[in-house]
Amino acid sequence: MKLERYIQKAGITSRRKAPKLIESGRVKVNSKIAKDFFLEVDEEKDIIEVDGKPIELENKQYYLFNKPAGYITALKDPFKTPTINDFLKKHYNITVRVHPVGRLDKDTEGLLILTNDGDLTYKVLHPKMKVEKEYLAKVYGTPNKEDVKRFEKGMKLKQFTTSPARLQIKESEGNFSWITIVIREGKKRQVKRMCSHIGHKVVYLKRIRVGTFTLFGIEKPGDLKEIGKDEIEKFMIENQIV
Ligand code: URA
Repeated sequence: MKLERYIQKAGITSRRKAPKLIESGRVKVNSKIAKDFFLEVDEEKDIIEVDGKPIELENKQYYLFNKPAGYITALKDPFKTPTINDFLKKHYNITVRVHPVGRLDKDTEGLLILTNDGDLTYKVLHPKMKVEKEYLAKVYGTPNKEDVKRFEKGMKLKQFTTSPARLQIKESEGNFSWITIVIREGKKRQVKRMCSHIGHKVVYLKRIRVGTFTLFGIEKPGDLKEIGKDEIEKFMIENQIV
């Protein structure tokens, strides 16, 4: 990356003002004053200083990914199950190490935020932040009004009691129904366990929304799109996790 771009990306000045700053001799690369604003710098190795202070790129990256079935969200697996990282390496060129915000089961498809921003991860996942996660599920049978109420009230599963959730029936298809479920927490296999608890086993599961992020633009499993810091800021405001 060119030195002037680095200075601008680090938020020190605008791109227009970066050359002036460099010309003025206030910028050092590896302890030497650098006056060439087209100088190529390596953001991993070179030490860039402005007024004697090292400047680092924040370089937070964000992606929305439509996870395909057949991959686990864990980064490593002793049984060599394919991970989403294997998938991403094969199909995309993400240059920084990103992690998934939350987990989806191997057979679950759908929306995953990928990032190296720990603060965002914490805020999206922490139950007290109450960010909604919406799922589309195909289940055996047809849940009734009583089941809907049990979701709303919260239900006692083996290890914990769920907080209020929503269940909506979309359509019935033979012995199965399509339903949507909204939860604000994310315990392991939570949706499947809640559905089994009311007697309607999940046979297909896809996450379709996390807060205000949806699968718009990444409708096909395996699709990925990068999102900018501005969109993340908007997301945080809209979901009240600022
Ligand atoms: N709930 C589940 O049961 N599985 C998932 O993958 C996500 C939520």
